[in-house]
Formats: sequence, structure tokens, C-alpha cells
Amino acid sequence: MRSNRKLEHIEISLQQRSQRGATGFNDITLVHNSLPELNWEEVDLSCTFLGQPLKAPLLINAMTGGHPQLEDINYYLARAAAVSDVAIAVGSQRAALEEASARRSFTVVREAHPQGVVLANLGADCTLAEAKEAISMIGANALQLHLNAPQELAMAEGDRNFRGILENIEALAKQLKVPVVVKEVGFGMSRESVKRLAEVGVSYIDIGGAGGTDFMAIEQSRSGKKLAWNWGIPTAISLLEGLTVSDDINIIASGGIEHALDCVKALSLGCCLIGMARPLLKVLINGSPEQLTSCLEALINDMRRIMLMLGAKDLLQLKEVPLVISGQTFHWVTQRGIS
Ligand code: FNR
Repeated sequence: MRSNRKLEHIEISLQQRSQRGATGFNDITLVHNSLPELNWEEVDLSCTFLGQPLKAPLLINAMTGGHPQLEDINYYLARAAAVSDVAIAVGSQRAALEEASARRSFTVVREAHPQGVVLANLGADCTLAEAKEAISMIGANALQLHLNAPQELAMAEGDRNFRGILENIEALAKQLKVPVVVKEVGFGMSRESVKRLAEVGVSYIDIGGAGGTDFMAIEQSRSGKKLAWNWGIPTAISLLEGLTVSDDINIIASGGIEHALDCVKALSLGCCLIGMARPLLKVLINGSPEQLTSCLEALINDMRRIMLMLGAKDLLQLKEVPLVISGQTFHWVTQRGIS
């Protein structure tokens, strides 16, 4: 049942059209610099994440695992992450906790990216023992805990009780030996949610904003219902919300980020990492493993091009470049008093 759902998620998500503009990044304009005073060789995207160096601040975000047919997908995603020296998260490991035969589709990720940053993934209601098992299964550098109330509510078989989640996250964050990364799955987080997570000791948050993969639509399509609610906080707006909370929180931007320009905009706003899920899966499934590797390399090179045009030689300088916020995003931040 669970593993069939995983196959359906892939199939339906790939049919979804990308909603260009729905992330809010079109409202952000980076101001061109006519005198960049930089040499191409100097432009450097490298960073440190979870204490490990990455060639670029990119994460292939949580997607799949738990079915033999998914082993190859995870293997090729991880191999691309290894070639480009970026981070990767596995999909929910719930199936592998219930069924030993489902483990292989997750352990291939660590095998394909032996020295890299690999994140485990479970729902935020998991127990401490489950969290420890998920982490040790793949030698994870951190554990992603996903929040997905809208998705659960859209599923006939989904959870209906969301009490006690924050307390559980607090206990996990305190007792696990690796950091937890709390993530949304495409509905975004408000600054209030980010603040509550920060107050219980979470220091890595993926705001997983709206504008990309839409899990309410995916679940509705599985059940034959169509509500078309367009629920959630657009990614750029959610990022601005999250970034106002505290400089001590590492905010990851994800949700509908498909192009180098949106990656650079998000980094310029102040996130530490960019997560991408469906756009990369699409290249792998509709294209090939080689196309996925070249797509990541092209993305990194395009990001460097944009940084050069802004006169920013590294991620620190990128955070200082001037930008203008317009449209719905401007109205949102003004009304919410976000500066
Ligand atoms: C996901 N996502 C996801 N997230 C998670 O925390 N655990 C999971 O098991 C899954 N499974 C999953 C399957 C598929 C097929 C997709 C496309 C996505 C959500 C993912 O990590 C991300 O938060 C959202 O997809 C938004 O990012 P994109 O796809 O718009 O880049």
C-alpha cells in the first residue's frame, strides 16, 4: 500500500505543470552590476553544510525509496549528488522501518555518495528509536523531519491528529546525536512556525514553500477529488518570513526552485542551501542519469555566471548585493512588518 503510494507520487508529480511565477521569485529583482571587477575563476559557490564542504549550496531534496523499483532512482540521484559534490536527502524511510526488504532502496544512496552529506527522512511524529534507526540505516549527517498536515488531510488514509508534534520535535532535537532539519513539503512556513521551532532548539529549517510540487493536488488526484485550493505560502515569501526570526537558524529554501536565477535570488535573500526535488527527478526520469549530472553542472555554472554579473565572488558577497522586492511579495512583507 505504502510503496504503491510512492510510485503514484512519482507518476502524478511528473504530470504536474510547473507554476512559473507562483513561488514569488518573480517579485525579486537582483540589481545588475556593470563593473563586477571579477575574474570568472574567482567566482566560488563552495560552502559548508553540517560541517562538511559542498561544491555548491544545493540539496537534492527528499523524494523516494521503499520499493525495489525505486532503488535505481535513488542510486542515480545520489550518484549525481556525488559527481557534483552536493547534498542529498532520501524519501521517507517509514517503509524501511516496517519491512527490511525496503531498506536497500535507501542504503544505495549512501553507497553512491559515500563521503557526502546524506540526510535521513521521517515524519515529525516518529519515535526516538525510529529516528535512530533511520539515521544509522544510511549513516546520515542529519535527519529531516517532514511536516505535511495539508497532504495528510487530502489523503483518505492520512493522519488526522497533529497534536504533540512540536514536543516530539523538541525531544528528538535534544536526544539525537545528529541535527534535525524540520521541513515542509511545499506549503511553506510562516515566521511564527519558524520561531516555535527555533524555541525548541531546531537550528536547521527547510521552509519548503508553495509554487512547485503540490502535494494536496497529488493526493486529490490519487483519490479522484479535485479541490484546487492552491494552499500554502509561496517560497520566496516564506523564505523572507523565516529569515526574520534569528540569524542563528540555518534556513534552507525549497519549493518550485527550478532555475539558477531563482537559486541565486534565494541565496542573496539569505538562505544557506537550496533544495530541489521534482525538477531533478523529471530530468532523470524523462531524460537519463547523464542528463541529470549535466543539468546539475549547468545549474552550478549558471549560478556562477549570475554571481559574476552581480559582482559577487562568493556566497558572503552575494548576501550583500542590492535587490528590489515588488508585487505581491512586497505587499506581503509590508503588511506583515518584515524588513
Ligand atoms: C517528495 N517530497 C517528500 N518530502 C519528504 O520530506 N519526504 C518524502 O518522502 C517526500 N516524497 C516526495 C516524493 C516526490 C515524488 C516528490 C516530487 C516530492 C517533497 C520534497 O522533498 C519537496 O519538499 C517538495 O517536492 C517541494 O520541492 P520541489 O519538488 O517543488 O522542488
